[in-house]
Amino acid sequence: MTVAATTSTRKRGAPANEPQPGDLLAWYDRHRRVLPWRAKPGEAIDPYRVWLSEIMLQQTTVKAVGPYFVRFLARWPDVQALAAAPLDDVLRLWAGLGYYARARNLHACAQAVVERGGFPHTELELTTLPGVGRYTAAAIASIAFDACTVPVDGNVERVVTRLFAIEEELPTAKPEIHRHAQTLAPDARAGDFAQAMMDLGATICTPVKPACVLCPWTETCAARKRGDAETFPRKPPKVTGLLRRGAAFVALRADGRVLLRSRPPKGLLGGMTEVPTTEWSHDFDEEQALDAAPRLSGAAPTWQRLPGIVTHVFTHFPLELVVYASDVPGNATGPDGARWVSIEMLPNEALPNVMRKVLAHALDATPVLRSSPRVSRAP
Ligand code: ADE
Repeated sequence: MTVAATTSTRKRGAPANEPQPGDLLAWYDRHRRVLPWRAKPGEAIDPYRVWLSEIMLQQTTVKAVGPYFVRFLARWPDVQALAAAPLDDVLRLWAGLGYYARARNLHACAQAVVERGGFPHTELELTTLPGVGRYTAAAIASIAFDACTVPVDGNVERVVTRLFAIEEELPTAKPEIHRHAQTLAPDARAGDFAQAMMDLGATICTPVKPACVLCPWTETCAARKRGDAETFPRKPPKVTGLLRRGAAFVALRADGRVLLRSRPPKGLLGGMTEVPTTEWSHDFDEEQALDAAPRLSGAAPTWQRLPGIVTHVFTHFPLELVVYASDVPGNATGPDGARWVSIEMLPNEALPNVMRKVLAHALDATPVLRSSPRVSRAP
């Protein structure tokens, strides 16, 4: 909980030429961001909100998470409500946030928490919950339960490597960064301190053009003193994933339904909805694409290759999909496991962004889908 700036700004035993937690806390009291999941000064902290936000914030930006957090909280105001919700509803409300294994873990975790009678308070116990790794456990323990620990994500790594001018490259430097980060943790207001580190990394100690003159630690930051703050953290040269390519098949039945299927529960986009596709591979051969088109009974589809391609970037590889579309008669039946979903019901499906793009691409090109205003184009 936020209280007035600490009277002692010196960490016990720390020399004055090292960063003092009190200086950061005083800055936080004046400049803290207002975020939907953050308790206001003096307000009681709800561990459910802290946990929900931290899971959503894993690999997703604060800006993107805001509306999802508000919608989840309105629909499931406490962990009991979320635990009792059907998994499909959770996946649907999650659609667009990405990394769908997180939504499955979120649901499993809510059930585990209800079963054990509440959230555990320690970092170690928190890591035993589904979807709660080292960072998330430290964030929940500090923010919800004031445990004396500093969660270290990419932003905090940047702050710490600059403060101490850590020359080791990531990821080898991680243990050293953790050690240094923990030396900063104050005896009181650990939750505020953790969030202050996050805010400092997001607003002042930015990857490019850090605002060092506004930083509460400008006098003690080793990299700032050397004048090369922007060069930290040290990283090995970047390797981007290899391009994968494939084809997607949009079958449109005369009754206004599209052929969909669910992806396998584990792995990339686990359990999400998709139109049938080929494998996504480095050596995709478009000439063979139609071999993987869905086999339909009662119909002989005439697949048309739509002009253009759909592109999407996953964290570890970029993807290009060509799209084939075909109108099929109203009595066509799909392969085992596939289902026909009316265009009006598409917004209720757990469609990942890449599949929204595929459907929007088909919508632009085919008269049947074009009549539906509700398949939105994802960014
Ligand atoms: N990133 C991860 N957790 C966060 C939080 N609680 N507040 C702001 N940014 C975050």
